[in-house]
Amino acid sequence: MNKAKTCFITGMTDGLGLAMAGQLLREGWIVFGGGRRPERLDALHKEFPHTLFPLYLDVTDASSLLKAKEEVARRTESLDMVINCAGVFREGCDNPLETTDVEAALSVMDINAIGPMRVTKIFLPFLKKGQDPVLVHVSSESGSLTGNTQQHRYDYCMSKAALNMFTVLLRHDLPPLGIRVFAVHPGWMHTAMGGPKAPLSPEESAKGILSLAKTTGRAEDPVFFDYDGSVHPL
Ligand SMILES: NC(=O)c1ccc[n+]([C@@H]2O[C@H](COP(=O)([O-])OP(=O)(O)OC[C@H]3O[C@@H](n4cnc5c(N)ncnc54)[C@H](OP(=O)(O)O)[C@@H]3O)[C@@H](O)[C@H]2O)c1
Repeated sequence: MNKAKTCFITGMTDGLGLAMAGQLLREGWIVFGGGRRPERLDALHKEFPHTLFPLYLDVTDASSLLKAKEEVARRTESLDMVINCAGVFREGCDNPLETTDVEAALSVMDINAIGPMRVTKIFLPFLKKGQDPVLVHVSSESGSLTGNTQQHRYDYCMSKAALNMFTVLLRHDLPPLGIRVFAVHPGWMHTAMGGPKAPLSPEESAKGILSLAKTTGRAEDPVFFDYDGSVHPL
């Protein structure tokens, strides 16, 4: 019998992360993950009481991630997929520089760019033991240096550009260890972050991203994609 595949997801309590968790669970995966509001996973947990493991985690707080790691380690020593999905778009982020709260920008960098470094460092030993393992970074077109059309949004764009660079650097290190890695723009989705006018459902984006996760991320592949599988300029 094939062993069930295992995944760890940050930002799993809402929007895209929640949609990806649901799709993986329906495919028979064992899913660990959460956010600062793990109670938001109660309904999904009732549906998948034996394969969903909701966890409290704050990607800015290494001690919460180490506790999450202990919970994962009680059940498995390997992960086949890790998805860094947690992210924030700060209110007031659209302001011009003159009225930008530069100090508040630090927390956005901490969550969107440094958080994935913390998570990846802690869970890398699990990925190393995974089956065709893959690391997925949910980035944004806002982080593209050559394709950016946004105005203002300094901290959000800069944080996602840093996440893309983290992905580029990991592309040197992880494929030689047998771990695939790529970054993806999930599209403009109607989530708490994207708002109700967005054209795309998180479920549709999740489907595209999980399909990419099955194939790409090797040394010879492009690094940055749109959720629909097309290559995005870095
Ligand atoms: N929506 C869009 O149109 C869009 C476009 C481009 C890129 N993205 C990216 O896609 C990803 C998912 O976005 P979404 O639209 O699904 O957003 P969302 O609905 O606002 O969900 C954000 C998720 O991030 C988690 N999170 C925030 N701060 C966290 C922290 N410090 N520690 C752990 N988890 C944290 C939240 O959980 P808790 O509150 O429970 O902590 C929540 O689960 C983000 O990285 C975002 O930048 C979204």
